[in-house]
Amino acid sequence: MKVAIASDHGGLNIREEIKGLLDKLGIEYEDFGCDCETSVDYPDYALPVAEKVASGEFDRGILICGTGIGMSISANKVKGIRCALVHDVFSAKATREHNDSNILAMGERVIGPGLALEIAKTWLQTEYQAGRHANRVGKISEYENKTL
Ligand code: RB5
Repeated sequence: MKVAIASDHGGLNIREEIKGLLDKLGIEYEDFGCDCETSVDYPDYALPVAEKVASGEFDRGILICGTGIGMSISANKVKGIRCALVHDVFSAKATREHNDSNILAMGERVIGPGLALEIAKTWLQTEYQAGRHANRVGKISEYENKTL
């Protein structure tokens, strides 16, 4: 699995923690910034990561900002992206199993690094169940194909 990761200034610390987790799990990744602690605009980081995942160059993406909200709104504008904003372990598992989410968004001003790592690990290691969920996810793609 190849993961694209990015954050704005509000998500720098958790991004670094997650890179450590990816190293520990032996998961290949590329860091798409941001590179400094000064204020940046989250769409500038969410959209390139979302495009890399949508194109198939990367299998999954992880985005962190202050709340995770700006990152998730931005990423979900890209066709083929199912970005889940997650702040608990139950949802991390459920969104992989049910929604086949391909990007995980989290907010560093919402949760601490310990929980963020548990969420990321669960999300990375949970498989999509397909089955009854495939029809539902398929309806999202059908809508995208008609409108985007
Ligand atoms: C930056 O101050 C903050 O707005 C951003 O990190 C994020 O929370 C946006 O949704």
